[in-house]
Amino acid sequence: MQTRVTKAEIVRSLPEPVVLPQEAAEIIRRGGLVAFPTETVYGLGADAFNEEACAKIYEAKGRPSDNPLIVHIAEYESILRLTDDRNPRMKALAESFWPGPLTMIVKRGRNSVPDAVTGGRDTVAVRWPSHPVAQALIRVAGGYIAAPSANRSGRPSPTKASHVIEDLDGRIDMIIDGGDTQVGLESTIVDLSEEEVRILRPGMIGAEEIARVLAAPEGVSQLPSAAAAEEAEEALAPGMKYTHYAPKGEMTLVSGDKEHVISYINRSASGTDKITGVISSEENAALYKADVIISCGSRTDGAAVAQRLYAALREMDARGAELIFCEDFSEADKTGAIANRLHKASGGRHVFAEADGRVRAKQNPGGGQRDGTAI
Ligand code: TXA
Ligand code: MG
Repeated sequence: MQTRVTKAEIVRSLPEPVVLPQEAAEIIRRGGLVAFPTETVYGLGADAFNEEACAKIYEAKGRPSDNPLIVHIAEYESILRLTDDRNPRMKALAESFWPGPLTMIVKRGRNSVPDAVTGGRDTVAVRWPSHPVAQALIRVAGGYIAAPSANRSGRPSPTKASHVIEDLDGRIDMIIDGGDTQVGLESTIVDLSEEEVRILRPGMIGAEEIARVLAAPEGVSQLPSAAAAEEAEEALAPGMKYTHYAPKGEMTLVSGDKEHVISYINRSASGTDKITGVISSEENAALYKADVIISCGSRTDGAAVAQRLYAALREMDARGAELIFCEDFSEADKTGAIANRLHKASGGRHVFAEADGRVRAKQNPGGGQRDGTAI
């Protein structure tokens, strides 16, 4: 299959400000696959009501079939076809955060999307993205696009059209190039299908903001213990149990005081024949000695770090880094989304650097940023 790569044109002076590539919506309506930009990451879209088309998504991504897809909509009313629930929390969160980087899990309705989308679950994930190209495509293609992130399963989500080409060229019909995505990490997933509201995947919209809107009297509850979270994780967003976001090299996350982090990383990187990489804050980048050093922005600017993180992981692969060290960016990480992705990308390898180049394994890796936080 030949994959067409075309740019969407944004003409702000028009009433419909996006000129979609010709045929993009037509491909979706005919049951094909189109990758498109959203404000978070690129998505791989198919008609959410076409079972066969949705099955092709799993095939193209190499995605396990028990990992359900998010249905993308372009106006609030569309969710009312997907669920019979008229949960006031759903409306309240939509009013505050849609269109935007929030996905809601709601009970699946009688006339909702087929099993291929939900993995047979009795819930469905729904998001109204804010990116104008995504909105135009969804509208013109009929209102409901099922779309996971447009990467091969296990790789970091794509934040540039070139990342999608790397992973899916020849496997899908079209890629709409809308430039770099702005948020850079996937949407926050909040589960409204049970009495207790839970964050299944942290994103740039934080648990506290969500709790404020829901006016949960108890606010953000205590985090579950590590063991309880581990157990709960299996039953939560099924996608969170798979290896994720991982670069090909072995990555270690390094926490601690700045000078201890730098000295531990420099010592480790100099004592090996492997190609070494450091994912660093802008402030510290010049202080490292390694083969590949990539800065993700200021250590106090979470939005910049989130926006650049996946491109940095992919660039480590492109430059052949075999042993990668990464700062923890905890100062910038207001919602825990960065820690969550780094925890997964490093396969849980997380050390705390102390004086004289000593390290200890970090307790409760990922800190309080486990999936499944109850709010
Ligand atoms: O920002 C985003 O959310 C991006 C863009 C493209 O919208 N999409 C995205 O999709 O990250 P994906 O498929 O890579 O991640 C969706 C996650 C998976 O972990 C999946 O298991 C979970 O959502 N999910 C989907 N439906 C679910 C359901 N009914 N119950 C629980 N988890 C669900
Ligand atoms: Mg994904």
